[in-house]
Amino acid sequence: MKGVPGKLFIDAHAHILPAADHGCDGTQTASEQLRLAAAAGVTHIIATSHFYPQRDTAEAFLARRKSALEAIAEIRKGIEGAPLVIPAAEVYMTTELYETDILPLFCVGGSRVILIELSSGYINDCVYRALTDIRDRKGLTPVIAHVDRYADTTVRRLSELYFPMQLNSTALRFPHTSRWRPYIQSGQITALGSDIHGAARNSYRSLRAAAATVEKLSPGFMRRSADFFGI
Ligand SMILES: [Fe+2]
Repeated sequence: MKGVPGKLFIDAHAHILPAADHGCDGTQTASEQLRLAAAAGVTHIIATSHFYPQRDTAEAFLARRKSALEAIAEIRKGIEGAPLVIPAAEVYMTTELYETDILPLFCVGGSRVILIELSSGYINDCVYRALTDIRDRKGLTPVIAHVDRYADTTVRRLSELYFPMQLNSTALRFPHTSRWRPYIQSGQITALGSDIHGAARNSYRSLRAAAATVEKLSPGFMRRSADFFGI
């Protein structure tokens, strides 16, 4: 998509892979989700199916995702203007996870960027150390999923530690934009997502409105987001 920045529109967080997680119960839902995305002008969907290491294995997740990607490739053929679908995962943070070498398997496409979901119940110094470890020792770039779910103190700390952050579109509904303006304008919000679960019609309407807001606050946002993910 390089060279056509005006048309680039990335959904960086979406549960659209059929039967890969609870966000999409099958091909009919996936098809409806892709139609909604196409109608909104989305060009790329980063498919971030949930990976919960405490109750799943990497092998099982990857096998499930492979089948789902094959199914969605078939679905895309029947949808005009269907967005490209990029395999990824939303990896739930557990302490044990960081002692393994499996994290690169969950990165976005062929990049070194990995979407990490924190448990809002236990964000403490161990968590910040683990994230730093992923970045500085494992050489990956953790991006914090739906950072809008967390308290101001957490967001500030993540920002001070220079972790890139992903915002859900609902966070930019009036009158909440001002909370995120500094992070969008400083470049620490690197990605915008619908976090779509199911096929609610307003998911992509909301993303489209949010994309217009971020481009207004930070012109070229989508182009930089694409570069961040290696799209
Ligand atoms: Fe999600």
